[in-house]
Amino acid sequence: MADTMKTLILKVDPKRPALAAIKKAAEFIKKGELVAFPTETVYGLGADALNEDAVRKIFEAKGRPLDNPIIVHIYSIEQLKELARKIPKSAFILAKHFWPGPLTMILHKRACVPKAVTANLETVAIRMPSHRIARLLCKHAEKPIAAPSANLSGKPSASSAKHVLEDFKGKIACIIDGGNTNIGLESTVIDLTAKRPVILRPGGITAEQLRKFLPEVKVHAVARAEKKASIAKSPGTKNRHYAPKAKLVLVEGPKEKAVAKALELAKQQSKTKKVALLIFGSKRNVGVKGIIVKAVQKKRDIGKRLFALLRELDTKGVEIIFANGIDEKGIGLAIMNRLRRASSKRIKVS
Ligand code: TXA
Ligand code: MG
Repeated sequence: MADTMKTLILKVDPKRPALAAIKKAAEFIKKGELVAFPTETVYGLGADALNEDAVRKIFEAKGRPLDNPIIVHIYSIEQLKELARKIPKSAFILAKHFWPGPLTMILHKRACVPKAVTANLETVAIRMPSHRIARLLCKHAEKPIAAPSANLSGKPSASSAKHVLEDFKGKIACIIDGGNTNIGLESTVIDLTAKRPVILRPGGITAEQLRKFLPEVKVHAVARAEKKASIAKSPGTKNRHYAPKAKLVLVEGPKEKAVAKALELAKQQSKTKKVALLIFGSKRNVGVKGIIVKAVQKKRDIGKRLFALLRELDTKGVEIIFANGIDEKGIGLAIMNRLRRASSKRIKVS
């Protein structure tokens, strides 16, 4: 794909989306072009899911490994039935409570879903987003939309149109700028083809929320990202991911101790390097000379700002980032998954 393509930027108010702009973007999808659009989680890089050539453009633009399957975004339960077969009851229960919303279900695919979308797997990932712009785009494209997060492969996901432009200006047909995304972390991916439903990637809907309706939900080891796991089940979970250019050192352990250790290490390194310190979930907000310090207290805010912070520190030329871990309750599991996978080094304190 030529790097010189003109990228049309359509500014759309998410509260009152202008239909003309949505229809324009939908035309690009119908023509087999790529459109980046906001969802409630992060920005997606969309293409007609039933058009193999269009789907290939996604892999090309992102530099995405061909063995990493893509989520298909839908607008209605009818579309779910067109794309998946042998849909278990559990899927309808979860759809009733969490769709539209940040939940992706892995189901057995029907033949109409191209292999390019599923990376040759017999299963397909499906999600019904709740963001008004995403919903309208799915509706007017009149096709399911295949969309990974709109970032270059391996980089932090995009929570604003500015981030999308950084990665894809001149490489895609269109970006719908609908402002900052609300959740900031990607959807929860749950596999419903196994005997017991299992979370492969923690995200916007927590394990606790899911268990209210399906008590048997398990969390797969890859979802905790404790080890560098490599499973065929969810290929997207195996490599270092969400990573800034800077080295990220994650300090885990009792919170205040972890913060103190991260601070100590940051001070040491700042003698020779450009250093940033991320303080999460702590009341402590220290100003340290020569170090860029960002403190975020509430878990929901950490989720919302995490990727944007990593990108911001990169643009500032930071070489090494120190961050403390937080507990894995609620959205904490998703935050720790992203932090561990973005990190190049992990340290434990006790
Ligand atoms: O919130 C989100 O999910 C965003 C927005 C744009 O919807 N999308 C997103 O897509 O995060 P992506 O491609 O960055 O992540 C999709 C994840 C990957 O880990 C991928 O391996 C997994 O879903 N996945 C997709 N299809 C799968 C399948 N058939 N079986 C197992 N895992 C699958
Ligand atoms: Mg992604």
